[in-house]
Amino acid sequence: MSSRISRVAADAIDMVKEAARLKAYSSFKPIYYFDSMQVETPPVGSTVPPAQEWRLLAKADAVSINLEDFKAVMLLWANDPTKIYPPVHAATLLNQETTLDGKNIKITRKLLPKRKDKDCELIETVSFQAHQNGLAVDFIPNVENENQAPFFYPKSVWKSLFEKLFKWSVTQNIGFVSYAKHDSLVPKSNYEETYNMLKLKYADDLIENWVEKTDPKKFVYEDLAIASWLISLWSSDTSSTKKPTFADLGCGNGLLVYILAREGYSGYGIDQSSRRIWSKFSEFAKLDAQTINPERMLVDVDWIIGNHADELVPWIPIIAAKSGFKNFVIIPCCYHGLTGDKMTINVKKGESKYGGYVRYVASIIEKCGYQPERDFLRIPSTRNTVLVGRSLLSSNDSVCKKSDFLKAANDLSDSVVNKINLRIPDSLKSKNQLLKQQERKKARLE
Ligand SMILES: C[S@@+](CC[C@H](N)C(=O)[O-])C[C@H]1O[C@@H](n2cnc3c(N)ncnc32)[C@H](O)[C@@H]1O
Repeated sequence: MSSRISRVAADAIDMVKEAARLKAYSSFKPIYYFDSMQVETPPVGSTVPPAQEWRLLAKADAVSINLEDFKAVMLLWANDPTKIYPPVHAATLLNQETTLDGKNIKITRKLLPKRKDKDCELIETVSFQAHQNGLAVDFIPNVENENQAPFFYPKSVWKSLFEKLFKWSVTQNIGFVSYAKHDSLVPKSNYEETYNMLKLKYADDLIENWVEKTDPKKFVYEDLAIASWLISLWSSDTSSTKKPTFADLGCGNGLLVYILAREGYSGYGIDQSSRRIWSKFSEFAKLDAQTINPERMLVDVDWIIGNHADELVPWIPIIAAKSGFKNFVIIPCCYHGLTGDKMTINVKKGESKYGGYVRYVASIIEKCGYQPERDFLRIPSTRNTVLVGRSLLSSNDSVCKKSDFLKAANDLSDSVVNKINLRIPDSLKSKNQLLKQQERKKARLE
């Protein structure tokens, strides 16, 4: 790990951009005057309605955006209004006129609602007029009075248009931050080659011999994909010729451990509930039924895996740091905090709940001294973000010390001492239920 200490991960830059993007989004403070219209002079270039009838409906500070980008996004929306009008199912183009110099465009289209039985169609003209200070784009509904307009016009249309334009401008300024930025840590070609190879080798046999009640296809293809990604990541490290060792904490059915073991990676899986299929994997996979107390857990492997490991997820970086700064891979899932309880996620503007949780886990990773790196797995699950910790944070103005990071990891651990709610294993739950049943039966007989 030390060989990579000063490496700044490609995806870490992505996270910095994302933080800037979220900060910029929070400055979006539109004012709507739908219920008390304001009289205001029309912007330069706008021709409709006549100046004396101009009323202001909505106002927001804009983010500066260059003319070409503004025109491109307006054209995109003019050609595909479903991108900004959620209740619109499709649009048919009725007419388009463009001046010879291409600067002024007039598009007339019919908006077809999603709820055909409830909402009416709307003919709308989008008019682009270039002028010396820029470009004015008018969206003009072809109605005689407001009763002829569908319910979403103009309030929700304007809100959507405004917000999307603001966000889009922010993104243009900060740089594009792709949410599904796959292959940032693992080259796609390596991944695909490995995946096809593993699929050929194992998929049919695993699906045929699945003894769990769960859907074999879901698990087999998902774990083959995760194993392929891990193997590609590990193979890209040329600093060692030895295959790294691993521990899969909260390994569930143990399939990932089995595939990695078959591929020559030495490691083990721990889960508090053993699974029927473990006996099928036992020749290759070391699987242990044990409830991990994350506060005391230490491992002696190169990589810790926390794949949808529920309560263990936020603990993985802490366990890794306390175990001598091991590397780790986390695929976050449900929103557990350090006590094991589900957390309330305070999402930032423009962020999903899952995105907020990933940010929380990334913040723990940083506190423990690691540079969080992120990628997206090619799996059907929507919870497909993978966070990697394999490099220690470095900074220009201070020498970061492992002892400081270790202290931070211990402090996090201590902050929830005696407050951790460990799961009760399924076997113990059924044992308790059986005992209760027996007690009830005994009481009835007495
Ligand atoms: C959602 S499942 C995921 C299983 C597997 N990693 C997968 O992706 O298929 C989470 C697993 O974490 C295990 N787990 C949660 N807390 C644990 C603990 N403290 N010790 C051991 N296992 C735990 C559960 O038993 C469960 O099997």
